[in-house]
Amino acid sequence: MYQHDVLVIGAGLAGMRAAIEASRMGADVAVITKVHPVRSHSNAAQGGINAAMGGEGSDDTWELHAYDTVKGSDWLGDQDSIEVMAKEAPQDIFELEHMGVIFARDEFGRLATRAFGGASKQRTFYVGDITGQALLHVMYEQLLKAGMRVYEEWFVLSLIKEEGECAGAVAMNMMTGDIEVIRAKAVIMAAGGIGRVYEPSTNGLICTGDGMALAYRIGAPMMDMEMVQYHPTTLKGNGALLTEGARGEGAYLINKDGDRFMKKYAPNKMELASRDVVSRSEAIEIQEGRGVDGCVYLDCRHLGEKLIRQRLGQIAELALEFANVDIVKNPVPIRPGMHYIMGGIKTNADGASYVPGLFAAGECANVSIHGGNRLGANSLLETVVFGRRSGKAAVEFARSKAKPVRISETMLVEQQKAKIQKLMDQPYPGYTSARVRLEMGKIMDKHVSVFRTEQGMKEAGDTILRLMQQYHKLSVRDHGKVYNWNLFSTLELENMLDVAEATCMSALARKESRGAHSRLDFPDRNDKEWMKHTLVYKAEGGPKIDYLPVVITQWPPERRTY
Ligand code: FUM
Repeated sequence: MYQHDVLVIGAGLAGMRAAIEASRMGADVAVITKVHPVRSHSNAAQGGINAAMGGEGSDDTWELHAYDTVKGSDWLGDQDSIEVMAKEAPQDIFELEHMGVIFARDEFGRLATRAFGGASKQRTFYVGDITGQALLHVMYEQLLKAGMRVYEEWFVLSLIKEEGECAGAVAMNMMTGDIEVIRAKAVIMAAGGIGRVYEPSTNGLICTGDGMALAYRIGAPMMDMEMVQYHPTTLKGNGALLTEGARGEGAYLINKDGDRFMKKYAPNKMELASRDVVSRSEAIEIQEGRGVDGCVYLDCRHLGEKLIRQRLGQIAELALEFANVDIVKNPVPIRPGMHYIMGGIKTNADGASYVPGLFAAGECANVSIHGGNRLGANSLLETVVFGRRSGKAAVEFARSKAKPVRISETMLVEQQKAKIQKLMDQPYPGYTSARVRLEMGKIMDKHVSVFRTEQGMKEAGDTILRLMQQYHKLSVRDHGKVYNWNLFSTLELENMLDVAEATCMSALARKESRGAHSRLDFPDRNDKEWMKHTLVYKAEGGPKIDYLPVVITQWPPERRTY
């Protein structure tokens, strides 16, 4: 048995930032992660991180950043949380720079910015098109410097709930197959998004909604799970991300006739309208026959080879390697693809969920910054601002705790062993977890995507229910103890099915169009009835839906145009 003040689950940017803050406050902190920290999905973030830094020659302000975020969210973001993020952003950028992030600089040696979607000012700080990777490596150095315990390549099987409070986790050491109890006075969930519930997705294979599902099972509601972001420029075929930074640098979107079609849909912001708007525009072009083979094009040719190599080197490589297109010479075929979930574990601005002792930060949390649609480069910002805040709040919570209650350790371990043994004892049903996973991903991408209808979402929901029944018949055929990926991918699938069901139910419940939730049968935003958050709880007999008002501080709803 292990014991800590604070246990952080997940070692991406939010998790590591939370852990560093908690450690700075003198707490005994540990991080647990199913992959090595620098393989976390924050690694894949490309284009940059937002902050209204102001400074010489800039008329940007935190209020403008906050307003753009509120507008981007289609007025579903909570404005108190958005204000916190916009106000605290500059200090976090400075801190990252002081930690050692080598941000791009302009000709005067100042931190450089690029334009990004939905922003009224140029406020995205960047490191070429590998910003997430640059941040992640620097954050990992800080983690090493702090000397904290990292349970690296451990798979969390369940959260411990004692007397209504979260009190740690039960996890398997993936290298040995041993199951251990890790007690903590506070737990911070920072286990990332749900990308692989969809097929394809820009997300790494590790993004399987584990953190959300674990929290959901101990009673923490998830909020706005219907809000799933489709990124406008994902590569034809494998769906890899081609950064919005390309359009920030001036790349165009064109259809089969070479027409910059965004002038029809967003005449003021063109390619830099918010992501939901651009993705819908592309989908319409494709549906109406002006695409090629299910795609439109991202055209970077006029940016010139020098700029492309300097600032967009990774996407040039991705396009060449996976689509055989040299973006210096040719437009590259792209389509809207699943990228991010705005929904997640409902928290306040200090990361506290509805279960005492359980905090959350990063993509698995819903602090309600992004509402119906996230602005590009606000997610890296969210990880550091709310990672830091949840680290602090978790330590304060831990310090208020007397000695923890103790459910028998043996019982906690035996429960998990029995569950795994059941999977191993099951006769082979003739289908595999991989097949179930693919069917889930395809139906979600078909019906809970850019455009939605009641009928389509019902079909997706019914399919997920059927797959959940099949899940109970699945067997794990590899009975080994060392790195048993047959077992881990089956456990991941259970997590994915839970969040898929919550997403379908939340989407069916919202009878309007707002942000990324665009219903052909309810095409308009309906502030009178639907200016509210969807909460979803795990309950006997299926998810239970509830609602919560949206927090408005200073920006009442407006018509949203770009
Ligand atoms: O396009 C991008 O670089 C993605 C950024 C983000 O999702 O924030």
